Amino acid sequence: MNNHNPHNHTEPRQDETPAVEIRDVRKSYCIGEMEVPVLHGIDLAIRRGEFLASMGPSGSGKSTLANLIGCRDHPTEGEIRVLGNVVNKLSNDELAHLRGEIGFVFQTFDLASGMSAFQNVELPAMVCQKHGCNPEKRAKELLELVGLSDHMHHKPTQLSGG
Ligand SMILES: Nc1ncnc2c1ncn2[C@@H]1O[C@H](COP(=O)(O)OP(=O)(O)OP(=O)(O)O)[C@@H](O)[C@H]1O
Ligand SMILES: [Mg+2]
Repeated sequence: MNNHNPHNHTEPRQDETPAVEIRDVRKSYCIGEMEVPVLHGIDLAIRRGEFLASMGPSGSGKSTLANLIGCRDHPTEGEIRVLGNVVNKLSNDELAHLRGEIGFVFQTFDLASGMSAFQNVELPAMVCQKHGCNPEKRAKELLELVGLSDHMHHKPTQLSGG
């Protein structure tokens, strides 16, 4: 993927720190002895509340870029700032904390087939143990938000689309 040029019609205001800033980011994967470049110098800024779609053929690097923005991987070169943090400089613990602030929907995801919709949604809230978060209450709120309250006790195979 070459220089990524989203349709940012208006530049961020001086006093508005972008939620995500990427400067000359390059990413290569090492496959055996070979270094395979995937991202060849990406520059972009995403403001709070802004939507950005990354489009390209299969294998062009969209997920690689999303993983970098989601603090799930390190760039080979360049700087990534997410919510004001220079990701390259963070320790693993700090990165894990920052990931907790980011909602990330995986391209392919797994649900626990033996658990109900409610239990699947409640589980991450129980694992991350955010201060002040009541997993049961939060799971009910989220299921309500997506219109699944009436189906919360159904297993994934009993729901349309799993
Ligand atoms: N962990 C990895 N190790 C080695 N190569 C990888 C790794 N992840 C991705 N690649 C390679 O990097 C390139 C970009 O992959 P990526 O998954 O980012 O593409 P994509 O644009 O998301 O594709 P798709 O549209 O199929 O989801 C591909 O050639 C892929 O094989
Ligand atoms: Mg992908």
